[in-house]
Amino acid sequence: MDVFLSAPGFEEALIRELGGAARVACRGVVIAEGPSRDLARTDPVFARQVLPGAEALEAPSIARMAHAAVDWVLPRVEAGEGPWRFETLLPDEPEDPHLPGELSRRAALAHGAFLAALKARRRRTWRRLDTAGAPGTPRVQALWVSRGRCYLSHARPALLDGGSWWPSPFPAGRPEVAEDRAAPSRAYRKLVEALAWLGRAPLPGERCVDLGAAPGGWTHVALRLGARVVAVDRAALAPALDGHPRLTQLRGDGFRYTPEDPPVDWLLSDLIAYPARGLALLARWAGARWFRRTVFHLKFKGRADYSTAAEAIRVLREAGYPLARAKHLYHDRNEVTVLGAESRGP
Ligand SMILES: C[S@@+](CC[C@H](N)C(=O)[O-])C[C@H]1O[C@@H](n2cnc3c(N)ncnc32)[C@H](O)[C@@H]1O
Repeated sequence: MDVFLSAPGFEEALIRELGGAARVACRGVVIAEGPSRDLARTDPVFARQVLPGAEALEAPSIARMAHAAVDWVLPRVEAGEGPWRFETLLPDEPEDPHLPGELSRRAALAHGAFLAALKARRRRTWRRLDTAGAPGTPRVQALWVSRGRCYLSHARPALLDGGSWWPSPFPAGRPEVAEDRAAPSRAYRKLVEALAWLGRAPLPGERCVDLGAAPGGWTHVALRLGARVVAVDRAALAPALDGHPRLTQLRGDGFRYTPEDPPVDWLLSDLIAYPARGLALLARWAGARWFRRTVFHLKFKGRADYSTAAEAIRVLREAGYPLARAKHLYHDRNEVTVLGAESRGP
């Protein structure tokens, strides 16, 4: 079976995307029974992480679970050579409201107990553990869903078109986002997270267009990285950004803006619009090759629908952007993040 992590409340959207052949295991966790899917072809918008070929393990105590996990892991890891990673995961909202913190504590203890049991049993295999790790390093994931139950998976990540990896290199598909108190809005987190998924961020001197920029969280991130930004919004940006030497503020309709001297290095868009309108805007920019890379939010209203996101991926690929991916990221709400890039290089 394959186990997928989604944002809580988006399980049904993920199941629809998987063609219905899946069920909710618990909040934020969807299980697709049967033989494991072809990873490179199963990169759902509403799944932030996948545990390919997973199996459920149950044990009444942490010690018993640790030993059972070592039994499960050893033949799989020892069938290969080189480094491997071990990650302990939780769903986004794992806690039983009657026992707050219980599952996180248990998972942390079980993580340590697993490593200790492994070291005692097979020091050589334990030494191959890799904590920093390249994104393609084979990975064991242990997802805790209740006190006595976890799902284990061992897989080598697949390299998708355009150079991104699946399963995601980030535990539970959640890159760390550092707190930035200087940002004018909390939306900065969404861009930082998206850039981590893209594996590439604006470089000093690169040109960015930020559509729907106010109050300026995304613009702040790009400026902090040293990029030059044209920020377009009907509303004003936060006063703290006024007069920044690498910022041009334009008050007006983001849908009508056309870039000077395209392509720009980055198209950033967080415009609020109906999905079809957002998609048409992306198609216009991509078709004209007005950007080299993009982080583009497609908003949705009510029931989450992946068809517009799937269409956005098709539009990008046809326009010659090999990295074309859409994900409902950890910080996303009623939107999905479309990622596009013309190449992996600088
Ligand atoms: C979600 S907010 C953007 C937040 C921003 N990314 C940040 O980090 O602070 C959406 C913005 O889109 C702007 N917007 C919506 N429709 C627009 C349009 N047609 N033209 C320009 N701006 C628009 C709104 O004024 C609003 O500031």
